[in-house]
Amino acid sequence: MVELLDNQRTFHIQVKHTSLVLHVLPTGHVTVIYWGKRLESKSLAYVIQDIGRASYISDTDGIKDFKLEQLPQAMPTHGNSDLRTPALVLEYADGSRITNLRYKDFKVYSGKERLPGMPTITSGEEVETVEILLEDYLQQVTVKLIFSAFYEYNAITQSVVVTNLSKSNVTIEKVVSSNIDFLDAAYDVCYLSGAWGRETHRQVRPLSQGAFLLDSKRGASGHGQNPFLALADKQANENSGSIYSMNMVYSGNFQAIAEVDMHQNTRMQMGINPFDFAWQLVPQESFYTPETVLIYSDQGYNQLSAIYHRFYRECLMKSSHAEKVRPVLINNWEATYFDFDKRKLLSLAKEAADCGIELFVLDDGWFGKRSDTTTSLGDWQPNHQKLGGSLSGLIEEIGQLGLQFGLWVEPEMVSPDSELYRAHPDWIIQVAGRDPQLARHQYVLDLANPAVQNYLITELSTLLEKENIAYIKWDMNRNITDSGSSYLAVAQQKELSHRYILGLYHVLEILTEQFPEVLFESCAGGGGRYDPGMLYYMPQTWTSDDTDAIERLPIQSGTSLIYPPISMGCHVSAVPNHQVGRITSMDTRGIVAMQGNLGYELDLTQLSTEEKLLVKEQVVQYKEIREIVQLGQLIRLTEIENQNQYAWLYRSKDATAFVVSFVQVLARANTVPKRLKLAGLDAKAYYQVGERICTGSELMSIGLKLDKPIEDYAGQRWLVKKIEK
Ligand code: GLA
Repeated sequence: MVELLDNQRTFHIQVKHTSLVLHVLPTGHVTVIYWGKRLESKSLAYVIQDIGRASYISDTDGIKDFKLEQLPQAMPTHGNSDLRTPALVLEYADGSRITNLRYKDFKVYSGKERLPGMPTITSGEEVETVEILLEDYLQQVTVKLIFSAFYEYNAITQSVVVTNLSKSNVTIEKVVSSNIDFLDAAYDVCYLSGAWGRETHRQVRPLSQGAFLLDSKRGASGHGQNPFLALADKQANENSGSIYSMNMVYSGNFQAIAEVDMHQNTRMQMGINPFDFAWQLVPQESFYTPETVLIYSDQGYNQLSAIYHRFYRECLMKSSHAEKVRPVLINNWEATYFDFDKRKLLSLAKEAADCGIELFVLDDGWFGKRSDTTTSLGDWQPNHQKLGGSLSGLIEEIGQLGLQFGLWVEPEMVSPDSELYRAHPDWIIQVAGRDPQLARHQYVLDLANPAVQNYLITELSTLLEKENIAYIKWDMNRNITDSGSSYLAVAQQKELSHRYILGLYHVLEILTEQFPEVLFESCAGGGGRYDPGMLYYMPQTWTSDDTDAIERLPIQSGTSLIYPPISMGCHVSAVPNHQVGRITSMDTRGIVAMQGNLGYELDLTQLSTEEKLLVKEQVVQYKEIREIVQLGQLIRLTEIENQNQYAWLYRSKDATAFVVSFVQVLARANTVPKRLKLAGLDAKAYYQVGERICTGSELMSIGLKLDKPIEDYAGQRWLVKKIEK
């Protein structure tokens, strides 16, 4: 809902529990005067008037004491008296770089428009949008700030449109999707960082004067940082405190900044990374930024997660699977790697079917002449020799065992040793005259080139039309180096990284529209592209290539800060674990993998009868609880400072059933086990846990009894059910 105050100079953007307030100054500058807990107000202009004036910094427009640098702005530009980090940098044909935006107009309407060629969150009831139009009168450029309020979801989205109304080209050097200035600096920054195999560890650090920067220059959102940044109250924890966050619906290079200035104000911004980026905006054309999602929580990180999860499940993920429970899968990667034949695959599938698994995923190595990483990416024809006949034949036999069939592809890549590369050496990302770098023996296709996009669409739709495929794992296993495109003009070379992502979105748009029944899972060497842009098209992500249950605890906990459990691929794998050599029990591996979308990725034919029985039981149990896990609400029960104990709970949609899990990393000698206090129950209602019946208040204030850990990596799980009494 958007309310207009102060003679239509103040825009009060409201969702159920949050307000974001923008105000237009008499000079035409647009300020952000408030973001936080929902306000009741009839006039807010005084917030700006009350700001104390600092010495030394410049006045603006010759107005005494009008100090732009001190004002909380919505779109600060380069070239005026605010010398903090700008949100917009344009270069004009005359070589000048000053942009002076002033308010021109606004528009409020119900609903929200799709951003051209980019994932846009449009579904969901009760959406209202306000567009605020700004103009640089001299250069004839307009900038539109678009905010949409998703009332019931407590979510606000923002994007920005730059339009060139002049007669000459304008170069966009930087444009963020969101810039919000805060009038204080007593915050911690919270973000998700890591590396391959160690993705999305939640970090919290105090802010101080200077700039805190997160980014990716890797051509993908990346394993290193997630396009997510939050400012949190110093005291914020899982259940209390204010948190202000941005998450960008984008899968490429991004930059997020939290900058504290000389006067303890904080500028928070997020957008496409200006690094190695410049966009030629020709006359009469517009540039659309990806959108950011702005979520505020006044009750700590658990509430923040709950808002994101519901919003992403119900509004972002457009797949027909978004809200359907997902199949339990077996993936052959860690079971066989490249070393498989039909016999091996069928015996794995048979064991899987015996265990109640529902989907068989054939990973890398089924196409061209690929038996290691050196060849055949790009040649998406089944290897009949390896598959012991046609792919259709294999799928049929697996189908006869009662399993659906899924397939791995890595469409954005090409091996130098491939028919595709031999036919189109100019289709890769490279700079003519230089030898492009190989990574994992592969090059990246130039997805900015429509011929490449069309090739991928044709190849993959032929495959999906021909074969009975229920699931696709879409992988992307290297970062982009040698940034150069033989398709793009000289002046457009710095557009490549963004055009690559637009090309990828185009391919995904067509394929996911054409094959709505296929369940797509995205992967980039694990979580190297775990972002809302990918989730828009593919409602699952392979969380990490690290499948060790203990390593997965901080990874999944971090991921769950923003992304819904239904989107997290979590597999039980073999011990000793292939990444870290750790040995954990089948029980603990199951408990951890049931935090998201359960799968198995080990050679089931090598399990003992006992272990197989455990797997069978796990699958039965997971099927009983998966609706609660996948569609319910997650509440983390331990704080991130406690890295030895992880506990979490899922509450079913109707709040009648709860799955509670606990893992202790290391056992400690001579300790007395404590109790685990639950959350999210009805204090007065009765619940059954095992044989015992307790009230919600008992479970929340006294808690469940924890076992004494007699070994490392021990886990426990409970099912708590509401009963009538
Ligand atoms: C990546 C993926 C793995 C597996 C391999 C296959 O590393 O993350 O799960 O699919 O590629 O080459």
